[in-house]
Amino acid sequence: MSDLRMGAALWDDELPQLKVVEKILKLKEERNALILAHNYQSAEIQFVADYVGDTLSLSMLARDAEQPIIVFCGPDFMVETAKILAPDKIVLYANDNARCPMAAMITPEDLRTLKKTHPNAKVVGYINTSAECKCEMDICCASANAVKIVRSLDAEDIIFVPDQNLGSYVRRMVPEKTILIWSGFCSVHHMIHKEDVLDLARAHPRARIIVHPECRPEVVDLAAAVLSTDGMIMYAASSEDREFIVVTELEVVNRMIEDNPDKEFHGIEKAYCRTQKKVKLENVLKSLETLAPEVSLPGDVIERARLPIERMLAVGRAELATQGVKHDT
Ligand code: 13P
Repeated sequence: MSDLRMGAALWDDELPQLKVVEKILKLKEERNALILAHNYQSAEIQFVADYVGDTLSLSMLARDAEQPIIVFCGPDFMVETAKILAPDKIVLYANDNARCPMAAMITPEDLRTLKKTHPNAKVVGYINTSAECKCEMDICCASANAVKIVRSLDAEDIIFVPDQNLGSYVRRMVPEKTILIWSGFCSVHHMIHKEDVLDLARAHPRARIIVHPECRPEVVDLAAAVLSTDGMIMYAASSEDREFIVVTELEVVNRMIEDNPDKEFHGIEKAYCRTQKKVKLENVLKSLETLAPEVSLPGDVIERARLPIERMLAVGRAELATQGVKHDT
């Protein structure tokens, strides 16, 4: 879904960047490549992408892609997930230094130990994990379907890894299950405190507060809706409210401002994902030129990791209202 929302800035001020953009678009056609970009990617990366979305939608797009080459603008775990779902394709990191800190907060060994000590529990693993960790899971989840996934399981005991905040949100939404939660966190959302949101709420008392479920429980408590990044974007577009406080990475807020000129959005200034912003136009061009760095995973890891991801995709995305709207604010 390339769009022209950042077009003016690119065309007017950034002539060298414009040349890179032109080269990328030309080479993309010649190579028959698909460019996927996560919602936190900078505006110029979103501009050259064929699709921009949340983790779940990008996984499905990778799985269903017709092109033989995918250039993935996002963190390591998303690129690897694309390869697991499309093993016959050439899947390229736009930048293989964009490594998600949360995904590094749990190892396959940690998971094997947890499984030994809780043999009756089902392991639900956030998609923000390594391929090797996915091999140890019963089922994966994304922010767009974590509650739905846990509800779908017949087990009463659940091990939820690695995000403590998403785990707490799921525990709150699925009180009938016993959920053991790992202590990982997102370095963007976990740094947002209740007072940061309350400051904005005091300045904009009519604004609807929408929050990503990777935020701390006391921040989630302030929300009118708790949603994945795509869920937030859809909510802002379809809601009758005119003003929003958006508690997630700032690029999502930028996107809402561009998409909804008749509405007002306020973001948390420090919510900036340095990891994802490591992807630059030059990286995308180089990936297309050299067909590197390519995701390379052992065949048995791809086989084993695919199962929990496919189980997740079979359950699907939560309805906006089911996953998101929860408090009577
Ligand atoms: P979604 O875009 O899937 O909501 O998640 C954000 C994220 O975890 C990026 O690392």
